[in-house]
Formats: sequence, structure tokens, C-alpha cells
Amino acid sequence: MCVGVITYFDRENNPYTVREAVPDDAPDIVGLITQVGLEQDYIANEGDYYSVEQQRRILADRPPGQLVLVALVDNRIIGTLEAVQGVFRKNRHVATMGMALKKGFRGLGRGEGLLTALGEWAQEKDIEKIAISVFESNPTAIHFYLRHGFAVEGSRPNQFRIRGKMVAEVFMAKYLP
Ligand SMILES: CC(C)(COP(=O)(O)OP(=O)(O)OC[C@H]1O[C@@H](n2cnc3c(N)ncnc32)[C@H](O)[C@@H]1OP(=O)(O)O)[C@@H](O)C(=O)NCCC(=O)NCCS
Repeated sequence: MCVGVITYFDRENNPYTVREAVPDDAPDIVGLITQVGLEQDYIANEGDYYSVEQQRRILADRPPGQLVLVALVDNRIIGTLEAVQGVFRKNRHVATMGMALKKGFRGLGRGEGLLTALGEWAQEKDIEKIAISVFESNPTAIHFYLRHGFAVEGSRPNQFRIRGKMVAEVFMAKYLP
């Protein structure tokens, strides 16, 4: 499946594009995830992500049930989304995802393009449910997912320790028509 290059417009009506990642995007993706990880508040890693070579191999050998998207402003990667479809008959109706935009590029509605492109891919794969887990201490992301049709399914208390405080993992999901 190929998502193609899709142009969307942010809240200030400026264009950004979303496309599937290619192996040469590995340095930018690793750099972005590493930076977001070092911010501490949003994703589990804290700068200890894949090496560029590992990421390059993941992108080169990606199975059909794995999607990696990038969002670009002025041809530079400002966001990424990864989704993995369940590999068993029991769970192949579910894709589990994660996403992040670079600091300085958030709050302008650009996450929406990544989610829209994910939805198109998911429908083509007969995926019925998209699942994500979010830190309870990340109200922006929880708000963002709720606004895009996700619902809270439950939570697991004390699953992370962030800045010295215990934080629950909130499970959210969206069902596709
Ligand atoms: C979460 C993320 C993907 C959302 O994408 P985005 O393009 O920045 O999101 P949007 O601009 O469309 O929406 C942000 C919303 O959060 C709201 N918001 C901002 N701060 C908030 C807060 N403290 N509490 C609640 N809502 C908040 C904004 O008002 C906006 O809501 P609105 O669209 O109803 O006005 C992006 O901000 C991001 O990458 N954040 C850092 C990494 C991260 O948290 N990833 C998700 C891990 S599960």
C-alpha cells in the first residue's frame, strides 16, 4: 500500500505534506524521536531510541502491516506516526499507533494530517480499531485524540514514573466505520 504524498493545510492555512517514510528519512526520524524523548513528558524513551542504521533497516524491511508516516513543512520532517497491525488472526483488526510532532510545530492542527492518512491506510487493511496509549499527564494529546474520535477505554495506574511522579497509562481507541 502506498499512501502517496498528501497536502493538508494547518490552522493558519499553511500547507504541510504527509507521506510514507523511506529509508533515507531514518536520520530525521531518529533525530525527532530522540528530541521528543528528551523532553521527557510525551513518550517512553528518553533519548535512547534506535540507531539511524536500525531505523533505516526497519524502514527498508517494513512488513505490510507496519506503517511509518512523516509530516513535512517546507520539505523538512516535523512529525512522524508509526502504526503496527496485529499479526495474529485474533488481533489483526487492531493497529497500535504512536505519533509525535517536533517542538515548535505543535498546536497548529498538523497532527490531523497524520491521523487522516493513517485512517486511509487502516481502512485499506480492514483494520477496525486504532489503539494508542497516552500518559495521563499529557492532557494535550488526550484532548487531541478525543477531538479526533478516540475514546478512553481504561487506564493502568502507576505504569510510568515521569519527573519523579507516578503516572497512569491511558488506553484510547478509535473504531473505524
Ligand atoms: C499530541 C500531538 C500529536 C497533537 O498534534 P497537534 O497538531 O499539535 O494538535 P492540534 O494542534 O490539532 O490540537 C492540540 C489541541 O490540544 C489543545 N491543548 C493544548 N494544550 C492543552 C492542555 N494543556 N490541555 C488540554 N488541551 C490542550 C489545543 O487547544 C488543541 O485543541 P483544539 O484543537 O480543540 O483547539 C502533538 O502536539 C505532539 O506531537 N505532542 C508531543 C508528542 C506527543 O504528545 N505525542 C503523543 C504521545 S501519545
